[in-house]
Amino acid sequence: MFSNIEKLLNIKRYLNKTLFKTPGVEYLKKNYSFKERKKKHINFWMTRASKNGGLNKYFFKSNNEDLSKDLSNYTYDVKNKFDISNEMFEVLSKSGLLIIENALPEDEREKVINLFNELKFKDYSNVWESKPTCFFRETTEINIGKLKIDDFKFLKRYSDQATKEIFNKVTEPSIELHYLKLKNLAIENTNIKGETFIHSDRFIPHFKMFYTPYEIGEDDAPFQYALGSHKVTPDYLDFFLNAKSFDETDIESKKLIKNIVSVKAKKNSLYIAFTNGLHRRTPFKKISEKKERNMMFFQYVERFNKFNYLF
Ligand SMILES: [Fe+2]
Repeated sequence: MFSNIEKLLNIKRYLNKTLFKTPGVEYLKKNYSFKERKKKHINFWMTRASKNGGLNKYFFKSNNEDLSKDLSNYTYDVKNKFDISNEMFEVLSKSGLLIIENALPEDEREKVINLFNELKFKDYSNVWESKPTCFFRETTEINIGKLKIDDFKFLKRYSDQATKEIFNKVTEPSIELHYLKLKNLAIENTNIKGETFIHSDRFIPHFKMFYTPYEIGEDDAPFQYALGSHKVTPDYLDFFLNAKSFDETDIESKKLIKNIVSVKAKKNSLYIAFTNGLHRRTPFKKISEKKERNMMFFQYVERFNKFNYLF
């Protein structure tokens, strides 16, 4: 039986996922032929977002610098500090990408690894928010588990720091651990919409955080990001106004995809990416022994929702 508090929490969760949901590209897709309508919609939400001091700083202050494709410019080793410095936030603002190496102390990394092992072997203890769910695609199998941030002291610290700075409000993330396994050493020849096509998640400024306990090399389907594509410029607005699929198949995306980098990461790396900008997971290409990926995702759309952009 649900208690009254549980019932209320469920209602709140349901409303966050429906009525209060952060605007995505659905409206733009539905109104594809109505340019004026789309323009109004985009302008309305962009004006609201630009009133937020954090979002204004990170997404609306345009950047005239040429961005180098050398990943080391966006990578910081935090060693024992476990902290995002002002310099790192500056780099994030310019590029839309920040990679943090040696992100967690060993005991917190181990804790994450143990959870991924539970997903891998489908042998669960009781820390999960609900029983993890397994999805099968043509070439991949993904096992997803959800967790609460309170279980991770240092990840919580990064998340609090980043949300305070970018959203001007400490915001609790929704955390998902994705254990992805490529079936039968297959190669992904066809791209998957919203995953291995370079795409935008939504037109309104926002971000995601990712953590990998293990190294991610060239052959491990690394994340790719079009540096600087998060900035709300005339080209950015033109893309969202005219796009059909909101990915690389739209001709307008070419102007945003200038400097693309693959986030090959060392073990124990955390990265932040502004995913209104263009990005993808690269496909698994080469047949190698290691055909799995362990990625922890931090998302904020549930708790930094429509109302937070409006008021
Ligand atoms: Fe995405």
